[in-house]
Amino acid sequence: MKTYDFAMVKILVPVSYLSVLCVSQDFDFFYFVQQWPGDTKKKSCCYPKSGKPAADFGVHGLWPNFNNGSYPSDCDPNNPYDQSQILDLIGCMEEEWPTFSCPSNNGTKFWAHEWNKHGTCSKSVLDQHDYFQATLNLKKKVDLLQALQTAGIEPNGTFYKLDNIGEAIKNGIGYTPGITCNGDASGHSQLHEIYFCVDTCGSNFIECSLFPNGRCSSEVEFPSF
Ligand SMILES: *[C@@H]1O[C@H](CO)[C@@H](O)[C@H](O)[C@H]1NC(C)=O
Ligand SMILES: *[C@@H]1O[C@H](CO)[C@@H](O)[C@H](O)[C@H]1NC(C)=O
Repeated sequence: MKTYDFAMVKILVPVSYLSVLCVSQDFDFFYFVQQWPGDTKKKSCCYPKSGKPAADFGVHGLWPNFNNGSYPSDCDPNNPYDQSQILDLIGCMEEEWPTFSCPSNNGTKFWAHEWNKHGTCSKSVLDQHDYFQATLNLKKKVDLLQALQTAGIEPNGTFYKLDNIGEAIKNGIGYTPGITCNGDASGHSQLHEIYFCVDTCGSNFIECSLFPNGRCSSEVEFPSF
C-alpha cells in the first residue's frame, strides 16, 4: 500500500491498482538485464572509448517480453535511435551502460541496437528519452555488487554455489533474479547476466513469473575485472 495526502485526508491506494495505470497492449513485462564485465574472456572484448569501465555490473538493456516466453522486436523502423533526444543522459550511460564491443567505440552502436530492437516495442508507454531514463533509474535502484559482497561473494575468480548467488541477490535487492552464465576460457560456468522483471511502466521491480534459460552449473565462477 502507498499513502497519499490529499487535503489532509490520508488515502490508501493498493499498489495493484496503481499498476493498472501502466497496462500495455504490446507486451507483458520488461526484463531489466545487467551484465558482469569480467565474463568476456572467451570473446573479443574492447573497452569503450571513454576508458575501462568501473568493476561493477553494467546495464545490458530493458527488454519488453511476453508471458509466453517470446518477445517483440524491431517494432518501429520509423523511429530509430536519435542521440539528439537523449544528450542529457549520455554521460550517465557511458558510466552505467558501457559497451564492450570491438573495435573500441563510444557506445552509440550498442545503445542504438537496444532502442531499435527492444525500446521501440515499448513506445506505447515510453518515448526514447523516457526509455533510457527509466533504464538508468532502475540501475540506480539496485546495487548488485553490494548485495553479493554483503554475502561474501566477491569478483575474485573463485567459484560460488549458484543457489548462494541467487539468495544473496534476493536478500539484498528483494526480488528473485534470473541468472545466466557462459563459459570461461577453460569451459567453466561463469557469471554472465542478472535479470530482474519490471512492470510495463518501466518503473517498479516485480517478481518474475518467467526466468531466462540460465545455462549455469551449480557452481559458478565470479571472474575478476
Ligand atoms: C506470445 O504472445 C504474443 C502476444 O500475445 C503473441 O503475439 C505471440 O505470437 C506468442 N508467441 C508464441 C510463440 O506463442
Ligand atoms: C559517437 O560516434 C558517432 C560516430 O561513430 C557519432 O555520430 C556520435 O555523435 C558519437 N556520440 C557521442 C556521444 O560522442
